[in-house]
Amino acid sequence: MAVMESAVSSHGTKPSRGQTHSLSGKSHGSTTTDLPTGIADIRKLPDSRFLELWDAIVVDPSIKSRLLNHAALSFTLRPRISRAVLPLHGIILLTGVPGTGKTSLGRGLAARTAEVVQDQEGFRYIEVDPHALVGSMLGKSQRAVTELFRSTLVERAMQAATIVLLDEVETLVADRTKMSLQANPVDVHRATDAALVELDRLAEDHGRLLFIATSNFPSAIDAAFTSRADLVVTIPLPNESARLAILRHTLSRMATELPALQGIAASPDLLNVARATDGLDGRTVRKLVAAACAEDEDVALEPERLTIEHLLAAARAIAAATSEGRVR
Ligand SMILES: Nc1ncnc2c1ncn2[C@@H]1O[C@H](COP(=O)(O)OP(=O)(O)OP(=O)(O)O)[C@@H](O)[C@H]1O
Ligand SMILES: [Mg+2]
Repeated sequence: MAVMESAVSSHGTKPSRGQTHSLSGKSHGSTTTDLPTGIADIRKLPDSRFLELWDAIVVDPSIKSRLLNHAALSFTLRPRISRAVLPLHGIILLTGVPGTGKTSLGRGLAARTAEVVQDQEGFRYIEVDPHALVGSMLGKSQRAVTELFRSTLVERAMQAATIVLLDEVETLVADRTKMSLQANPVDVHRATDAALVELDRLAEDHGRLLFIATSNFPSAIDAAFTSRADLVVTIPLPNESARLAILRHTLSRMATELPALQGIAASPDLLNVARATDGLDGRTVRKLVAAACAEDEDVALEPERLTIEHLLAAARAIAAATSEGRVR
C-alpha cells in the first residue's frame, strides 16, 4: 500500500479517475433490497460520482486536506503501530447543521482516500443505514448491530481495504445518559453498547477499515463514541465566497443543458445574491436556483429566462421565511 504524497497534499495533481462499478449493481439512491440488513449501499472505490461530490462541496481547502490526510493515515499508520502506543480507532466524525454537505463529503472522502492510498486489491465502500438497525426492529437492535459488525463488516474488511459510512450516527450510538427520552430506552441502550464493543473489536483486529460518521446532533451521540473518533470536524455554514461559488457551480452545471444560463453564472452581480443568502446552508443555496425559476411562470416554463433579479427575489423570500421562523 503506497500513498501518493502529491495527491494528498494537492488535489490538482491527483491521478486519473478510473471506471468504477457499484457492487450492488445499482446506482446510488436506488432501492437495494438484495443488501444485508442495515446496509444501504456497497460499491468499489474510487467511484466517479463520489469524486464529483467531493469536488462539488465548497469548504475551506484546509478542511478537505485535513480529512484526507487523516483518512490516509488510517491505512498507512494505524495498521502498523500498536494500539497500546497509538490508540487510533479509524473513525472520523463530521458534524454540522443540516445541509452543510456532511454526507456528500463522507462519500467523497471515501473515494478520494481510495484514490490517494493505493491498494492492490482495491477499496470497498459500505454505507450503513442505522435507522434500519435501531428502533424499527423493537427489541432486536442489539442483535442487528452485532450481526452487522461481526459478520457483514468483518467479512468485507477481511477481503479488502474498506471504508464504512455511518450516516446519521446518533441513531446507532445514541447518548445513553439521555435514554429516558427514548421510546424504547433499553433496546437503544443495548444497541449503543453493542456498537461500541464491536467498534473496539474491529479497531483491534482490522487495520484496513475506516469509519466515516456524520451527525446533525452531536449532543445526541454517546460520549464514548465521540472519544473514540480520531478526528472530529464541524462543517460550517458556507461563508459569502463559498455561497458565491455554490451559486456559480449550480448555474454553470445547469448551463450545460441550458446554455443561456452561462451569462448569469459568470455575472459579477451574482455576488449580490450570495450576500442576500447569509446564514443559509449549502443545500438551500443550491435549491435557491430552482426556487428562483419558480418565482415567475414564464421562467418556470422556460428556465433559460432566469435573471439575477429572480435569484435576488427568491433569496429575499427565503431570508424572510427563515427570520419569520426564528421569531416564532
Ligand atoms: N458547502 C457546500 N458546497 C456545495 N454544496 C453544498 C454544500 N453544502 C451542502 N451542499 C449541497 O447540499 C446538498 C445536501 O448535501 P448533504 O446531503 O451532503 O448535506 P448534509 O450535511 O449531509 O445534510 P443533512 O445533515 O441534512 O443530512 C447537496 O446537493 C450538496 O451538494
Ligand atoms: Mg446527511
